[in-house]
Amino acid sequence: MSERTLVLVKPDGVERGLVGEVVSRIERKGLRLVSLELKTVDRGLAEQHYAEHEGKGFYEELISFITSAPVAALVVEGPRAIAAFRQIAGGTDPVEKAAPGSIRGDLALETGSNIVHGSDSPESAEREIKLWFG
Ligand code: PPS
Repeated sequence: MSERTLVLVKPDGVERGLVGEVVSRIERKGLRLVSLELKTVDRGLAEQHYAEHEGKGFYEELISFITSAPVAALVVEGPRAIAAFRQIAGGTDPVEKAAPGSIRGDLALETGSNIVHGSDSPESAEREIKLWFG
């Protein structure tokens, strides 16, 4: 059964020219790109996107990072797309959690600039796709 997930290539990934690399890994996995748009993120969108993290120690850093420069927003489709993308992204901490071979494991060093975001559940995916693509 096919499902959809929202993927963001965050400001560090866009600035480092890694959008193509991320898209390539998504496509090589067998997932399909449905939408791709470069977006400037205002504080309102950032706060809605990361609403569940409000109050956490890293929240302000997260909001100021995601609003600092354009992000690439992607809708990605395929069987178990949510889990499949999180597998190729790797864990949140690029050194302690992300395995070599994953996007974060291969390409990032810091949790605060870990290149990509992927929806973490079907409910989040539905909410985030609506939020970013209407
Ligand atoms: S939690 O508390 O377990 O739900 O957090 P987690 O799922 O690991 O992370 C949620 C998002 O916050 C980012 N994050 C951070 N940003 C900056 N600094 C620190 N220390 C930090 N810790 C977590 C993390 O990358 C997640 O962002 P997205 O864009 O969803 O990957």
